Amino acid sequence: MTAVTDASQRTEPAARTPERLNLPALQLGPLTVETPVVLAPMAGITNNAFRRLCREYGGGLYVSEMVTARALVERRAESLRIIHHDPDETPRSVQLYSVDPVTTGQAVRMLVEEDRADHIDLNFGCPVPKVTKRGGGSALPWKSELFASIIGAAVREASKKDIPVTVKMRRGIDEDHLTYLDAGRTARSLGVAAVALHGRTMEQHYSGQADWDSIARLREALPDIPVLGNGDIWSAEDAIAMVRQTGVDGVVVGRGCQGRPWLFGDLQNAFEGSDERFRPGLAKVADTFYRHAELLVDTFGGDEGKALRDVRKHVAWYFKGYQVGGELRARLAQVPDLATLRELLDELDPHAPYPGPDAEGPRGRAGSPKRPHLPEGWLDSRELNAEQKTLIQAAELDVSGG
Ligand SMILES: Cc1cc2nc3c(=O)[nH]c(=O)nc-3n(C[C@H](O)[C@H](O)[C@H](O)COP(=O)(O)O)c2cc1C
Repeated sequence: MTAVTDASQRTEPAARTPERLNLPALQLGPLTVETPVVLAPMAGITNNAFRRLCREYGGGLYVSEMVTARALVERRAESLRIIHHDPDETPRSVQLYSVDPVTTGQAVRMLVEEDRADHIDLNFGCPVPKVTKRGGGSALPWKSELFASIIGAAVREASKKDIPVTVKMRRGIDEDHLTYLDAGRTARSLGVAAVALHGRTMEQHYSGQADWDSIARLREALPDIPVLGNGDIWSAEDAIAMVRQTGVDGVVVGRGCQGRPWLFGDLQNAFEGSDERFRPGLAKVADTFYRHAELLVDTFGGDEGKALRDVRKHVAWYFKGYQVGGELRARLAQVPDLATLRELLDELDPHAPYPGPDAEGPRGRAGSPKRPHLPEGWLDSRELNAEQKTLIQAAELDVSGG
């Protein structure tokens, strides 16, 4: 597939010309993903609207926001919204969050029997205290039997229609409680199609730097299934560097594409050996931002107010580094409707060029390490005690974010 060709945004070759990479397509069971790039699931971000913008630029696998297995099985409206894909989206990828094998099995069965997904990812990376203090997300792989039973249930149900299941996880809880190697081996032995590793622990949250060496170690430890690397890819050059440094079969990109759906065009170009990069001027960014807002109106069933409230969080990301005054930024961050958005965007200088490095680099969540919030006595054993079994049941409810 060729990336969007808009002369206004394709100008100079990248400053550093990367050496050609020869990475084959990513094979996930029967699914072939020609460009071995995955849009990381991000709650509140990777909805239909944003996935559409991203996939218009390049090939890859575009994962939904996570959906809680319990809420999905209960067919809550928001869960059905999350797993909805536009008719032209293929493959349809859904990320499930669950702490319970039975509910996991039910949710996967629903997705498979009702033909609602072509790929299912399981979330074992969420570091949000609300989730981990009940034993979910990145706390879960520590409990090896529970971890295995959830994956086993998902793979069993998904394999009935040959739907590949993948696992996304962190390195562990903290440096003294690393789980990624044994969790990866367990997942592999249970028949997952690939494992993705975010090179941070729960304790690191989004701070510091992702440890790509761990990603390399996992790649070595799992010779016969694809391993995907995740963490701190801010440019196509970073993606190439990760592949070279770790040997991964594909990359998973999260915050780097916030406000920059064209990063997927850069990634496709880079993986195909082309030096062309998208360098949008301000007019193109403003158009894309407006379009994002319009698409969100569709995503939220025509609710313009909700869509505009949602798009406000993207303002800082889209306009990072561009000439947009503080006052206009503040008004954009409170924009109530599409008509006002149009007026505000019309105030921008349509001739302002791509600002260069100021528009690039880290964006989105960062912060400092956070003391792990875990259930009482969680780290004492890798098996669940009776009290913990009761507690984690509650972890499926009211969960969002990764
Ligand atoms: C706003 C936000 C929401 C996220 N939501 C999820 C999620 O629903 N499921 C998940 O597995 N990870 C989630 N993550 C983690 C990302 O998928 C990814 O692992 C992480 O951001 C590291 O990759 P990056 O350095 O490319 O951003 C989220 C991250 C952010 C910033």
